[in-house]
Amino acid sequence: MVAKSVVLEKIVCLLLLIGNVYGETYENSKTVCQKCVCTQNDPTFSINCNEKGLNHVLANWPKMADSTKAITASFSKNSIDTLEKLPGTDKVVEVVFTYCNIQKVNPEVFTNVPKIKYVDLSHNKITSEELSPEDFRGTYVNDTWQPLDLLTLNLAYNEIHMLQNNIFEFLPKLEELNLKGNNFRVLDEATQLAIDSLKNLLRLNLADNKLTEITSTTIMNLTNLVELDLSYNKLDFVPAILSEISQSLENLILDGNPIFELTDSSFINTKNLIQLSMNNMNRLDNILPNAFAPLKKLRTLKLSNNPLLEELDAQTFPEHPDLAEVYLNNNSFDDISFELLEWSKLKIFEFKGNPLKCSCNLFKIHEKLSKKITRQQDGPICMDLRVVKSRPVFYLTDDICRVTPSHMKKEHVSHSFNVLRITIIAICTLLLLATLGVAATFLFRWRRIQRNLNYPFVSEVRYNPVNIHGGFN
Ligand SMILES: *[C@@H]1O[C@H](CO)[C@@H](O)[C@H](O)[C@H]1NC(C)=O
Ligand SMILES: *[C@@H]1O[C@H](CO)[C@@H](O)[C@H](O)[C@H]1NC(C)=O
Ligand SMILES: *[C@@H]1O[C@H](CO)[C@@H](O)[C@H](O)[C@H]1NC(C)=O
Repeated sequence: MVAKSVVLEKIVCLLLLIGNVYGETYENSKTVCQKCVCTQNDPTFSINCNEKGLNHVLANWPKMADSTKAITASFSKNSIDTLEKLPGTDKVVEVVFTYCNIQKVNPEVFTNVPKIKYVDLSHNKITSEELSPEDFRGTYVNDTWQPLDLLTLNLAYNEIHMLQNNIFEFLPKLEELNLKGNNFRVLDEATQLAIDSLKNLLRLNLADNKLTEITSTTIMNLTNLVELDLSYNKLDFVPAILSEISQSLENLILDGNPIFELTDSSFINTKNLIQLSMNNMNRLDNILPNAFAPLKKLRTLKLSNNPLLEELDAQTFPEHPDLAEVYLNNNSFDDISFELLEWSKLKIFEFKGNPLKCSCNLFKIHEKLSKKITRQQDGPICMDLRVVKSRPVFYLTDDICRVTPSHMKKEHVSHSFNVLRITIIAICTLLLLATLGVAATFLFRWRRIQRNLNYPFVSEVRYNPVNIHGGFN
């Protein structure tokens, strides 16, 4: 028995050794559709191997995939330390390897899948050192490496802090690059060159890094960039570099940055912006007049959860014919100027969670807004200072616009009476104090005149007009 198991162990060792001689080990793919979920949904074959305890990449694509045009394969939540070469196919391929604890990426991983379109490697442990241009080489033809067809590369939530300048040399078609949640503090020169080499990039995500600035050459050549996500970095200002890609940029996300002020030049050149998001900005306390003026095509503005933001100047958005969705929740507004926007054009307007005081402005805004908006049951609330009671803004009536002391006396007798009484007492007190003050002054002056009459030489100086106007001291 003992001898037998030793022999068996040796055979296993030998087999492992043979496996290692070839450098890579693969999952047995004959039984893969028994282990994973395979579905054929013409023209796509899908294989779902999430959480199947795999330690390697498949050796081959299942036979079922042969008759289809495309393969989508998901291997999330397995423990695959090294990403090895994917099995070969000439079909369009999409692969997902999220949460696999990947630390190493072998060269030419995609060389056998030249039509790979989508790669998601997010939530792994890939470092800058592990990524090189060789990883993304296509097929080897005529003594040269060919480019890949890759359109989307997701490297979010890895451990990348820089990129080699030629990292993407085999990815000329890339349209979407996600680098969210990595360790970028600055975009050094190599990284800038790497990003700038992606001439067809449409969407770039650099959110949730530690970027303090976007230097002047980055993204300068990305003339097709449509969406840029810079949220949750450490930017103090709206990056001036945005002006370089002004022609294409439509969607800008700046949430969660320590930007404290927006001026009339913050967006001076991003003229084609359609969506702007600036939520969760804990330091933003000042939006100067005309800040959004250059954004003539803006359709959606998200400006919520900015606790220091107390007001928006009536001239914040002059002429915004396309603005249709505005979110101003959870700021510190106590009023909103009726002149701020063309209310009747809005399809969505949210302004809940502000310490609003009921005002004629709010009533007039409510009147202009479409019924679709004002019909909301859980709309915004304001404090009615006449009765010290909160009420829904969308229930305000025009009496709030007639709040004058005399009017209040008629409609809210008891409350107005109190106000009147306090006012009268205050005025009387002031009058009394003023009278006493004047009396005291005159008394003082009288005494001084009396004294000066006894000392004629001094009196000349004392009766200097300047001194009289300057007060009695
Ligand atoms: C390889 O070379 C051959 C002959 O010169 C040419 O016909 C073919 O298009 C080349 N292939 C690529 C991918 O460049
Ligand atoms: C960006 O464009 C400028 C001017 O067209 C050019 O000189 C520069 O080489 C380009 N940078 C990259 C990385 O392609
Ligand atoms: C506003 O704040 C409340 C409480 O903190 C939160 O529950 C709500 O989701 C916030 N609203 C928006 C639109 O962010």
